[in-house]
Amino acid sequence: MSEQNKVISDSRFKELKPFETKLWLSSPTMHGDEQKWVDDAIRTNWVSTVGANINEVEKQIAEYIGVKYAVGLASGTSALHLAIRLAGEKLYGQARTGEGTLRGHKVFCSDMTFNASVNPVAYECGDAVFIDTEYETWNMSPEALEKAFEMYPDVKLIVVAHLYGTPGKIEQIKAIAEKHNALIIEDAAESLGAKYKINGKWLETGTLGYGCISFNGNKIITGSSGGMFLTDNLEYANKVRKWSTQSREAAAWYQHEEIGYNYRMSNIIAGVVRGQLPFLDEHIKQKKAIYERYKKGLADLPVKMNPYDSENSEPNFWLSCMIIEEKFMCRTVRGDKDAIYINEPGKSCPTEILETLSAFNAEGRPIWKPMHLQPIYLDHAFITENGNGRAWSNAYIEGSSIDVGADIFRRGLCLPSDNKMTPEQQDIVIDIIHRCFE
Ligand SMILES: Cc1ncc(COP(=O)(O)O)c(C=O)c1O
Repeated sequence: MSEQNKVISDSRFKELKPFETKLWLSSPTMHGDEQKWVDDAIRTNWVSTVGANINEVEKQIAEYIGVKYAVGLASGTSALHLAIRLAGEKLYGQARTGEGTLRGHKVFCSDMTFNASVNPVAYECGDAVFIDTEYETWNMSPEALEKAFEMYPDVKLIVVAHLYGTPGKIEQIKAIAEKHNALIIEDAAESLGAKYKINGKWLETGTLGYGCISFNGNKIITGSSGGMFLTDNLEYANKVRKWSTQSREAAAWYQHEEIGYNYRMSNIIAGVVRGQLPFLDEHIKQKKAIYERYKKGLADLPVKMNPYDSENSEPNFWLSCMIIEEKFMCRTVRGDKDAIYINEPGKSCPTEILETLSAFNAEGRPIWKPMHLQPIYLDHAFITENGNGRAWSNAYIEGSSIDVGADIFRRGLCLPSDNKMTPEQQDIVIDIIHRCFE
């Protein structure tokens, strides 16, 4: 019997039918004008990395976010790479050709994030040190960050992400960074339109000087791909724009005095973003309604939604997630690629819920696996609020460790959060989750 049939014939789910069309985690939502602006680019022959769409989306995003400059790039990853390279050059000087700007330097990085936040540290030959997560927003723990500065006082760069569209504890993180003279790269790829309060002032995520956003297909608005670097500093904006177009110097021929990249946004992609921008606030509203509906619908289960600080932040609610109370977790183990669980009455686990949703044609996803657990980064330092998060145990002394990221990864999952999901479809998702706990 196939996995799907096994699930569907389980007596708990018997009278339910799979969704006819798939419910996505978060898929693109087109509105019509995207086509118009793409056609416009083609009709006017501006089919390259210059044109009216790029100019317009850079202007509109800068205005929306409240920064002076937004530089259109090929992806959020390229925005992060250039932001990190820029910060590296500010801190340590221009690197030799073929060398990264961060060689020999540690960088404190969010641990529970997508790998695109931290890979650019490696592109620049830096040594990412992963900072554990806190339970209040599922982002970088300021306590663990303080601990990391105690252990590595020379560090001058922090890469911080706002996971699932929820702002982290940025006021505290900024204060710690200032105390240690460190720069902050802000990965707002998932949090476009989310806000936080700093010194009593509401700001958009990505406004701290080296901000990065993404227009990847799964994001709150999309260009199919694309990203932007955000800053108030004209010199930084000009540098990133220059690097993104192969670092051409002001000469009639191709003259190069530093390494360049082909990272500029295309005018076609910008056309899609231009059509999406008027709908950003509407998408946020829809995502918030989905979050609230889950919160209410799951309130009687031993689970909690991904949390946020309602006084000091307003998420964009990009993904709705939940975490299961420890006592109600059924037995489960995960390997590097597979997971198994033992079904127990009154209990469940992310694998059971995700497999069941999938059998009913709905897409969820495990919580992003923390970076310190990724095989590629196993030899990198990981710092919790107690200090070294690796090598914490002692065969001769009893004691327990903390690893907030691993705990949220084990007990949490991302729910179908597509803004085209109807309330009726969402009610069925909520019903399926209830039945998993029967
Ligand atoms: C937290 C985070 N950072 C960076 C990225 C990279 O953005 P892009 O896919 O546009 O390169 C993504 C998503 O893809 C992300 O979720």
